[in-house]
Amino acid sequence: MENGSPDAPAERGHWGSKLAFIFAASGSAIGLGNIWRFPMEVGKNGGAIFVLVYILGVAFIGFAVMLAELVIGRYSQKNPVGAIQAIKPGSLWKGIGYLGILTGVCILSYYAVVAGWAVGYLVKTVGGAFKGNVTSKLTAELFTSFTSNPFQVMIFFVLMMGLTTYIISRGVKAGIERWTKVLMPILFVLLIILAARALTLPGAGKGIAYYLKPDFSLLSGKVILFAMGQAFFSLSLGMGTMMTYGSYLPKRDNLVSSAGWVCFFDSLIAITAGFIIFPTLFAIPGTSLDAGPGLVFQVLPLIFPQIPGGYVFGILFFALLSVAALTSTISLLEVPVAYFVDERNWPRKKAAWLMGFITFLLGIPTVLAFGANKFLTKIDFQGKMDFIFGNVSLAFGALLISIFAAYVWGVKKALKEIESGNPKFVLRPVWVFSIKYLSPIVIIIILYFIKTIAG
Ligand code: PFF
Repeated sequence: MENGSPDAPAERGHWGSKLAFIFAASGSAIGLGNIWRFPMEVGKNGGAIFVLVYILGVAFIGFAVMLAELVIGRYSQKNPVGAIQAIKPGSLWKGIGYLGILTGVCILSYYAVVAGWAVGYLVKTVGGAFKGNVTSKLTAELFTSFTSNPFQVMIFFVLMMGLTTYIISRGVKAGIERWTKVLMPILFVLLIILAARALTLPGAGKGIAYYLKPDFSLLSGKVILFAMGQAFFSLSLGMGTMMTYGSYLPKRDNLVSSAGWVCFFDSLIAITAGFIIFPTLFAIPGTSLDAGPGLVFQVLPLIFPQIPGGYVFGILFFALLSVAALTSTISLLEVPVAYFVDERNWPRKKAAWLMGFITFLLGIPTVLAFGANKFLTKIDFQGKMDFIFGNVSLAFGALLISIFAAYVWGVKKALKEIESGNPKFVLRPVWVFSIKYLSPIVIIIILYFIKTIAG
């Protein structure tokens, strides 16, 4: 096991350029979290008040944790377990890395199922399912009949897991870099066009108000927990993904602006997605705000027939959503694989296929949890997994990473590494305050209240 040395192993791959890194990290961040999970959480947690807390959370905590992860990764040039080990050899802190591996595999297990839904919807759209008179009753029925059919869902789930595993087995550079550069900007343009149409639907005003006018009486511990959980989930924080991505960064890159851009792009996409979903939901009534995992899949198809060329738009949209999901699934699998490759000297192929297979097995209950199996449906298996790993575990991981960076490694050393690529770190006091106090305190408070919140 490599230990103690922050030097990069000679054969370790690096991003081609700073821009390539920003695209790849944005590719990890932007995915179902922005387009599927964000509107779902907004709908379940009171609308604009959730959006407000989420934005504050990204700006003051998410950004700080992202910078902490990137700097730990770049300094050590290692996977999360090896990174912590290099900075604090022989300590229990490397548990952050193990927790990250577990969390990554568990999130991926249900994430890839939902990614499979996106591919399934692509096929449906091509087949003309959303042409003509599309009502919310129809989209609701379609969602239920599709997700409760385990054979169909399984095919798309296997496809997504197989692709993810194949890409990861071929290595970080060849695998990740080439996907995002062209496709993410196209996704953004498409979202803008759909939002422009949604915002001009008759009756869209109520949706805009729901999304933008916060009702402060709805502010609660629950809203803060879910908004922070969403911030970590969406930015791929709290499980070492950004540490791993940072470890492929060359030494002299400016980490601060990279972190800033990733936070900005990620939030921009999520917020734009909300501008499609909520105006449409209010303008074409029939879908409940707390429709949960089905929300986006039921609402989005309503907007396609409203625009000229909607058929093509629908196809493009679900194709790009599938790609966005894929660039996130590969980042989820990269964390465990980087560990086995770096620390256990496994061949990349073996690590990728074994981890991919384990994730696939773990995903089977989620496939069955939307009607196919009564018990798994009743206990809301997927919702529970998302709550435990997508909210709690990521928040806990972000807490440990903040404490590790601020107090174990030490702010001074972290700053030295940050400032080696960025001598004018203007936000220095803000970062120090956030990583030392704000982030740990806020996360401790929300984790403390979790029982009452979840109950
Ligand atoms: N950030 C991704 C999304 O919003 O879809 C999901 C994700 C990827 C979460 C990687 C966590 C992670 F480490």
